[in-house]
Amino acid sequence: MTAANTPYSANDAATPGDAQDAARSGGAQGSPEAGSTQEAAALDAETLRASDILAWSFSVEPDTILIVDDDPITRLVLGEIFRPYYKIEEAENGLQALSLLLADPLRYCAILLDFAMEGMDGLEVLQNLVKRNLLTRIPVFLITAETDFGITKGAYDLGVMDVIGKPIVPYVVERRVNSVIELYQSRRRLRNAVEDQQAQLLDQANRIISLSNGMIEALAAAIEFRDGESGEHVRRIRTITRILLEGTPLGEGLSTHQINAIELASMLHDVGKIAIPDAILCKPGRLTPEEFEVIKSHTVVGAELLEGIPQFRELDAFDFAVDIARHHHERWDGRGYPDGLEGSQISIWAQVVALADVYDALRSKRVYKDAFTREQALQMITDGECGSFNPELLETFKAAEPAIDMMYR
Ligand SMILES: [Fe+2]
Ligand SMILES: [Fe+2]
Repeated sequence: MTAANTPYSANDAATPGDAQDAARSGGAQGSPEAGSTQEAAALDAETLRASDILAWSFSVEPDTILIVDDDPITRLVLGEIFRPYYKIEEAENGLQALSLLLADPLRYCAILLDFAMEGMDGLEVLQNLVKRNLLTRIPVFLITAETDFGITKGAYDLGVMDVIGKPIVPYVVERRVNSVIELYQSRRRLRNAVEDQQAQLLDQANRIISLSNGMIEALAAAIEFRDGESGEHVRRIRTITRILLEGTPLGEGLSTHQINAIELASMLHDVGKIAIPDAILCKPGRLTPEEFEVIKSHTVVGAELLEGIPQFRELDAFDFAVDIARHHHERWDGRGYPDGLEGSQISIWAQVVALADVYDALRSKRVYKDAFTREQALQMITDGECGSFNPELLETFKAAEPAIDMMYR
């Protein structure tokens, strides 16, 4: 005996033979009289919330039509129309329908819903579906013998796709329902394609960002190697810059995004040293005044170099990097170089990198000097032996110094 000619039992919640689906429909045994808003609310709690619906993936292709009607003949007629195309499930009242729908809404491609039923009627089912935001995903067709325009209008207002009058004309119903299901399918596929494309673009953008970050780190480390350092200096500058800007009064008004860009830019502060001849850059002894002038030029040269890379302009770190490269040797008292900027004329990020640079130089061993202790370094900075700094920056620095010190242990 096939599914089509199986005698219908009033308690069959689903297509005979579809045992799994029937098992899922816990509420399918409920009596029509039991249908009520309270029970619908209880169903709601045990199954899914509106937020679950919103989080739906479009990746599942729904393939089942739910036929809701208290008349077994109508269910049979409708089932026969659509069985060649879709899986069919049946419910004999509103509450059964809702129970099936809420258990696994993803599998339904359409709902054929009778208007007049005992207990929870078609309109009440509709209202429940609207409340759960399901009508945007599943097209609903109201089946009714009523000719009252108010009912038709009420159903349309709630969002049904179509109202189909009884007696049922199979050919017309088939055409109307199938075309709407196809419309929903193509909409879903289009949305899938758009989402796939968006994900690909995002992935590509992330890869470009991480590639450019990697290039910047490599470039900064390469410059430092010429200087006889290991690349650790720029990494520490980066960390100190972050510590001084993140969650401190200095970083107020800067977004996380900007702080990320600044810490990346900080690594390029000495990029201009690439243009300084080895004889001067690596000279072990004291520099002559002329040689010192050449060294000083690494600020201007660095900014110009960065400005000359068209692709670099695209990066969020660009403006910060140019500013930091040019101004990380300016002093709060105006006696720095190359522009002799004074006080708050110097951007906060250039100030932060300047202090980080000085502190790290003091705490590190160089060919010409030993590393200073933490206390010595702090003292020298506070006494103004190594430059002149914004008092607010010094305050923040002193508070953050224990965290910074961890890197030198
Ligand atoms: Fe420098
Ligand atoms: Fe440096």
